[in-house]
Amino acid sequence: MAAAGLAEVVVVGSCMTDLVSLTTRLPKAGETIHGHKFFIDFGGKGANQCIQAARLGAKTLMICKVGKDSFGNDYIENFKRNGISTEFVGQTEDAATGAASIIVNSEGANLLLDSEDLKRAANAISKAKVIICQLEIASSISLEALKMAHSNGVKTLFNPAPALAELDPQFYTHSDIFCCNESEAEILTGIPVGNPEDAGKVGLVLLERGCKLVIVTLGPEGCVMISVEEPIPKHIPAGKVTAVDTTGAGDSFVGALAFFMACYPHLSMEEVIRKSNFIASVSVQASGTQSSYPYRKDLPQDLF
Ligand SMILES: Nc1ncnc2c1ncn2[C@@H]1O[C@H](COP(=O)(O)OP(=O)(O)OP(=O)(O)O)[C@@H](O)[C@H]1O
Ligand SMILES: *[C@@H]1O[C@H](CO)[C@@H](O)[C@H](O)[C@H]1NC(C)=O
Repeated sequence: MAAAGLAEVVVVGSCMTDLVSLTTRLPKAGETIHGHKFFIDFGGKGANQCIQAARLGAKTLMICKVGKDSFGNDYIENFKRNGISTEFVGQTEDAATGAASIIVNSEGANLLLDSEDLKRAANAISKAKVIICQLEIASSISLEALKMAHSNGVKTLFNPAPALAELDPQFYTHSDIFCCNESEAEILTGIPVGNPEDAGKVGLVLLERGCKLVIVTLGPEGCVMISVEEPIPKHIPAGKVTAVDTTGAGDSFVGALAFFMACYPHLSMEEVIRKSNFIASVSVQASGTQSSYPYRKDLPQDLF
């Protein structure tokens, strides 16, 4: 496992225990219906992104909060199995591990990650190559982490998910890479996105707000990138594959971006994005979220 100060990719974000009930229909208010299949899965955008970066071979560290409960213990084991440093995974008595299901949706301990937690991890944050933040924790904490990293010259990768219509404008100015999907792009800019041309328009608006490089992901269409250095939208298509389950593709893509940026700093962003499209397109060919994320050893070695 990587020593804390040596992590290349640091993720500040959420862990969720996904309680998945497969039912034939959704329950009405107050109704109990029996699922025909129930399973527990590891999720949360921050953790997903960290897992994907780790499986590709980055030294990773997760800063998050879980409950002092069996879901929290299991999540820590999941991180360890994936070679992720858990030195700054806090366990609290004051909330349960975040859980999500079709019936309950509670952010749980994720909302208790606070400034003190970030201060304890300040050394790891300031020495990372790339930091990733999202919005499944308190947005003020995401912003504080981005600022800590940015002021130390760490590349900041921000994924505004789930999107907030009134995002603090400082998120734009502290994001080296701002990566959103079509619906997040529309919530942030009011521009509906259905094709690469629309995504380019969103990109221009977000550059004006202060981002250095914007990526709008477009599912099977890959994504569009635009940067301050080259303010002309560029469509980078994904390969054609047969999708089995696209859940978590966005997090696989973000985790892969961080891995390539941290471990192959000489690559152009266009090349980093092409490779990340490929990784995410592998993830859609298997079911589940983290269970669909590929390991380095199972990928074509010319990616590395
Ligand atoms: N059907 C697909 N075929 C090939 N690649 C895909 C497909 N769906 C997604 N991808 C890859 O995954 C990336 C992210 O997909 P998408 O834009 O759907 O993210 P997302 O909406 O955040 O995902 P989700 O919310 O489902 O986790 C795309 O840019 C692309 O590289
Ligand atoms: C974009 O990501 C959000 C999660 O933040 C998800 O709910 C939404 O379905 C995604 N949109 C698309 C078009 O995939």
